[in-house]
Amino acid sequence: MSLLWSADGLIAAMHGRPVGTMPDGITGVSIDSRSLQPGEAFFAIKGETMDGHDFATAAVKAGAALLVVAEGKLPALGRLTAPMIVVPDVLAALENLGRAARARSRAKVIAVTGSVGKTTTKEALRHVLSAVGTVHASDKSFNNHWGVPLTLARLPADADYAVFEIGMNHADEIRPLVKMVRPHVAIITLIAAAHLGHFKDLDAIAQAKAEIFEGIEPGGTALLNRDDSRWKLLEGLARQAGVEHVAGFGENARAQYRLVKCALAAGHSDITVKLGSKAVDLRIGAPGRHIVQNALAVIGAARIAGADIGKVAAAFATLQPERGRGRQHRLAVGEGTFTLIDESYNANPASMKAAIDLLDATPPQDGGRRIAVLGDMLELGDHAARLHAGIAADIAATRTEIVLTAGPLMRSLADNMPSGVTGEYRPTVEELKPVLLDTVGPGDVVMVKSSNGAGFAKLVNALLDRFPAQAGDPTSS
Ligand SMILES: Nc1ncnc2c1ncn2[C@@H]1O[C@H](COP(=O)(O)OP(=O)(O)O)[C@@H](O)[C@H]1O
Ligand SMILES: [Mg+2]
Repeated sequence: MSLLWSADGLIAAMHGRPVGTMPDGITGVSIDSRSLQPGEAFFAIKGETMDGHDFATAAVKAGAALLVVAEGKLPALGRLTAPMIVVPDVLAALENLGRAARARSRAKVIAVTGSVGKTTTKEALRHVLSAVGTVHASDKSFNNHWGVPLTLARLPADADYAVFEIGMNHADEIRPLVKMVRPHVAIITLIAAAHLGHFKDLDAIAQAKAEIFEGIEPGGTALLNRDDSRWKLLEGLARQAGVEHVAGFGENARAQYRLVKCALAAGHSDITVKLGSKAVDLRIGAPGRHIVQNALAVIGAARIAGADIGKVAAAFATLQPERGRGRQHRLAVGEGTFTLIDESYNANPASMKAAIDLLDATPPQDGGRRIAVLGDMLELGDHAARLHAGIAADIAATRTEIVLTAGPLMRSLADNMPSGVTGEYRPTVEELKPVLLDTVGPGDVVMVKSSNGAGFAKLVNALLDRFPAQAGDPTSS
């Protein structure tokens, strides 16, 4: 396997002190001894509850080529004979390595932030850009003060494209991260009530997201949702930050990457996008209007990065929904089958509405019903009760027949269920499980959604355990 970093390169980038016999180099960077691959460097990061130094022995056992450890912890590691690079502060060393990775890279760099859809957009960029070059992208949702430098440090010297997810819970988090990433294109997917707990209102969230403009490379582009209610505010903030190009994606007539036709189907969407004077038709292999909106950003970023748009457009056809973010299953029940839409990874008012609309766009078979299984949306602070009750309006606008809810916050929705909808509420996920298993029948479409912490993935797993997957289902192969 080729080396990601030579030992000399590592030492120089981190201003570290080598101890022991250095290997030639490392094949990767890890901060988790459980997932570390042989040949990788282990960075002993100190987290909120754990200290990586306590896992140094495990990392060596897993085959770490070397350890990066803090000077102050060295005495406690005395027994370890593995090669080490000793630094004053391990997280700062990872950041320095990230900066060195960025400095040596010739990749087109794209950063993605926003209240919702960061990971979905990042994965779509990874997918379609892979059709035109080598792509490096963040693992999972690695988007915070360690996730971003880790992703940067892992950037191979010869990548053509690099895609970074950047997240935040508070003001002043994005700024230092984007200054390491130095994107050519920065996307803000949309501004919505997520982590509203820490913010006064949506304008305050937009202000915090706008920090991403401060790290855009000279000549770079801010790519913003033209349909978002905070477009004007964000555009102004981008100009203020000195960003040279501001472009919009969306349905709005003034969007540079403009949706002019859109046909939503249960398993995909067919759209036409106008890029300047050119119109491009494409099929997106993952369904939902919200995925279409992300696709507009992806196509815009690909175009700005100079990618071959024909190849990029074709690659959208094979895009798959991510696990927990819209992945669909066809499961056997009784004499028939039902469709399960797994949205259990994440929920806030914007993605909740998107998922309910997706349920509406998915037709049941032979007398089946649309069933929404909804759990708490977390981190909404004082706004939680109002925003949970507000889901009733989203449901009322669709053909959803049954709504099963659980969790303390969902009580507000359960008490406010629109007329004509059958609602069942249980205080806990465990109590809702038997209700759900008894309810589903042939022809139904079942959409399960909650914040990850509400634990509705358990309900998805219960359905997958109880009802056998049909041929063609992603879980059956
Ligand atoms: N543009 C969008 N608008 C609304 N919901 C979206 C959008 N993009 C993705 N989603 C949904 O929001 C949830 C979270 O998506 P994800 O990409 O993980 O967001 P993030 O990384 O920003 O937390 C998923 O259920 C996903 O299907
Ligand atoms: Mg994410």
